[in-house]
Amino acid sequence: MRPFIFLMGKAFGLLLLTPGVVHAQGQAQIDADTRAAATEAAMTDAERTVLTNGIMPLPFPPVPIPPDALYGAGFVPGIDRLGVPPLWETDAGLGIAWVGGLRGDGATALPSAIAQGATWDSDLVRRAGAMIGGEARALGFNILLAGGINLMRDPRNGRTFEYFSEDPLLSGILGGAAVDGIQSMHVLSTVKHFALNGQETGRRIVDVSIGEPAARESDLLAFEIAIERGRPGSVMCAYNRVNGVPACGSEWLLNQVLKRDWQYPGFVMSDWGAVTGLDMVMAGLDQQSGAQLDPEVFLGQPLADRAATDPLWASRLSDMNRRILRSIFAIGLDQFRPERRPIDLDANAAIAEQVARQGIVLLRNEGDLLPLSRQAARIAVIGGHADRGVLAGGGSSHVQSPEGPGIALVTGRRQDSPQYGMAWHRSAPVTAIRAMVPDASVRYRDGRYISEAVALARDSDIVIIIATQWMTEGRDVPDLSLPDGQDELIMAVAEANPRTIVVLQTGGPVLMPWHDSVGAILAAWYPGARGGEAIASLLFGEHSPSGRLPVTFPAGPDQLPRPHLDGAGEVEPNFIGIGQPGQIVAVNYDIEGADVGYRWYAQQGLRPLFPFGFGLSYTRFSQMLVGLSGGARPTARVRVRNVGYRPGAEVVQLYLTANPLGPQRRLAGFERVELAPGEERLVDVALDPRLLGQWRDGGWYWPDGRYAVAAGTSALETGAPMSLSVAEGMPCTGATGHAACFHAASQ
Ligand code: BGC
Repeated sequence: MRPFIFLMGKAFGLLLLTPGVVHAQGQAQIDADTRAAATEAAMTDAERTVLTNGIMPLPFPPVPIPPDALYGAGFVPGIDRLGVPPLWETDAGLGIAWVGGLRGDGATALPSAIAQGATWDSDLVRRAGAMIGGEARALGFNILLAGGINLMRDPRNGRTFEYFSEDPLLSGILGGAAVDGIQSMHVLSTVKHFALNGQETGRRIVDVSIGEPAARESDLLAFEIAIERGRPGSVMCAYNRVNGVPACGSEWLLNQVLKRDWQYPGFVMSDWGAVTGLDMVMAGLDQQSGAQLDPEVFLGQPLADRAATDPLWASRLSDMNRRILRSIFAIGLDQFRPERRPIDLDANAAIAEQVARQGIVLLRNEGDLLPLSRQAARIAVIGGHADRGVLAGGGSSHVQSPEGPGIALVTGRRQDSPQYGMAWHRSAPVTAIRAMVPDASVRYRDGRYISEAVALARDSDIVIIIATQWMTEGRDVPDLSLPDGQDELIMAVAEANPRTIVVLQTGGPVLMPWHDSVGAILAAWYPGARGGEAIASLLFGEHSPSGRLPVTFPAGPDQLPRPHLDGAGEVEPNFIGIGQPGQIVAVNYDIEGADVGYRWYAQQGLRPLFPFGFGLSYTRFSQMLVGLSGGARPTARVRVRNVGYRPGAEVVQLYLTANPLGPQRRLAGFERVELAPGEERLVDVALDPRLLGQWRDGGWYWPDGRYAVAAGTSALETGAPMSLSVAEGMPCTGATGHAACFHAASQ
C-alpha cells in the first residue's frame, strides 16, 4: 500500500498516513474535503465504481443481496481497506420504513410531513428528525431518504402527505430542520425529489414546463433554503422531466443550479428506477440507486470503461467519488457506525405525539363546541376504523411499529403489502377518548351504514366522526372528495345531531360540502404512532390546538391552476408510472409559475375554503406589527399577546403584500410563540430577502421602490402593512450577504 500525504491545516502540520489508518485516528476534525480527496486518490480503478451504484436489497425485483445488506431501500458496498463504510439506506421522512415487515423490526411513525409542516415549529421538526436519525442507526442504517421538499402544486398529488407545504420558505426551513436533526445523529439525509416532482400520475413520464425565474422563486427556492439550513449529504433527483429533460440528467438542475450556483458539495443520487443512460453522469448525477430497477447498471462497468479511455470522464469519476466520500466524512458515517440496539419506542412515541398534537389544525369551532367537557355522558365515535388505529399514508415512506398495523387492507397485487395497501397505526382514537372520560359511555360504529350511525348520533350528546382519505405514493387521488360515501355520512349524522365534530385524517386538503352543518372540524392529517392520543388530548382541551395550514384548502377543483389533473385517464394509476412506449404527460407549471398555492388564489382573486396559514385555537391572540428594521437582512417586530384564558401558541406570519412590481402575497418570515394567558411578547422575525424580490437575469434582484410587509393570521387575513424601501446607491449598515439594502421607510 502506497503511503500518501495530505495537509490537515496549520494546527496539525504535515502528516504521513497510509489510507488504512486514516479513519482510525479520530479524524472527525479533519476537513472532509481533504479526507475525501486523499481517499479518492488512494482508490484503485476497480474501487472507483464501488460507491457510484447500489442495489435495492429487497426480494423484488430479485437481485443477489450481499450478507451485510439489510432489507431496505438501498445498499452500496463500502471499501473496507480505505475505511469507507457500506451505505445502508432506508426510507424516509416519517421514520424507518417497515418494508412490509420483512426485517422483523419496526420503528416510531412520525406524523406525515404535512402534519410536521402544520406545526410551523422548526425546533420540534429538528428534534423529530434527530429521533428518527437515532432509530435509523439503532436499526442498522446510515442513510435516510428523507427531506421531502417538493412544493404541493396540486393537492391531488398522492405524495402530498410526504411533503411539508406549498410554500418555499416554510418547506425550506422545516425541511432543512428535519435534515439537520437526522444528520445530528450521524445519519446522512437526502432532500428529494429534485425537482418539480409535483404529481404521481405518470410519474416517470411527466414533463413539466416552467420558466427559470418561476422555478427559482418557488420549488428551487425551497430546495435552496433546505440545503443551506440542513446541509444534506445527498440530493435525490426526481423521476419527472423538466422542460423536456429528465431531472436526473438535467445539466441545468444538477450542474448549474445545484452544483455551480449553490456550490453544493455533496452528491446527487438517483431516484429508484430513474436512470436511463450513462450520459446523466455528465449532467451531474453521482450515484445510481437501486440499479436493478434501471435498464442497466450504467454507473458500474460502463462508467469504468469510459473513464479508462477518456480523461474528462476519469476526472468526473474522481469528482463523483470525492462528493460521496465528502458527505460520508462530513456527517461522520465512518466514525459513527450503525449500532444495533433496542429502541425506546415509548420515549420516541412521545415526540411523535407532540408533533401530531402541534400539527393538528382546528378549522371550525362553532359556539366553542370544543374543547369537550369531561362531563359529556354519551359520546359517539363513528368511522375511520377509529376503534383500531389511525390511518397512515402508503408507499415507500410507510412506517409501522414492531407489532405491525392495527389493521391493513391489502388489495392483492404482487407488490402489495401493508406498505402499499391501506394500513392503520395501533393508536385507536376510541381507546384514547375512553381514557379521557372513563365514566362516559363511548360507543363506536364503523359508519358503513348511515342509518345505524344516525341512530347512534340521535342517542348521543356528542358525535365525533373520524373521516379518512388514503393517499399513497404512486397514485394521485382522482378528486378531493372523501371517498366511500363519507360526505353523505357526515351530512346525515350532522343533521341528526348538530354537536358533530369531524376529525379528518387525510393526506392533504379535501372538499367539505358539509362544512356549514357540523359544529367543529379538526385536520389531523396522518397523525402517526400516537395519533389517537394526540386527537383525544385536543378534543378534551388538555392542549390548545396550534397547528396552522401549510396548504390551501380549495373551495372546489375549478380553483386549481389545472382543474383537470394532467395524465388522469390516460395513464394507468400505478406505482410504476410509465404509460405507453413513447408517451409523455405534459404539465404546464407556467400557468401559476412561482405563484403556487395561496399565491395563486391571491393572484386570481379566489376565496378558498381555508387559506394557507389558517388555524383556530382555544384561546385568542392579538398581533400587531410594530416595526421593520432594514439592512441586508430585514427584520419585522411584532407584538403578540394571548388575550384569552388558556395557554396556547400563535404563529406569527409576515407577508410581503406589495413590492415595486405590484401587489404580492408571499410568506417572508414566521415564528411560533407559546404564550400563557395574558402574556405579551415582542417577537423579532427575520425576513428572507429572496421572498421580497425576484429572480432576474441569473440572480436575485430588488427593484428600487417600496416593499410593504404585514403581519397576518393567514395568507388571507393580514393587518396594516409597514414599508421598507430599496434605492440604488444607498449604503447598507450591517451584514451585506445579499445585493440589496433595505431601509425602513417613513410610515
Ligand atoms: C421514491 C423515493 C424513495 C425510493 C426508495 C422511490 O420510488 O420516489 O422517494 O426514496 O423509491 O424507496
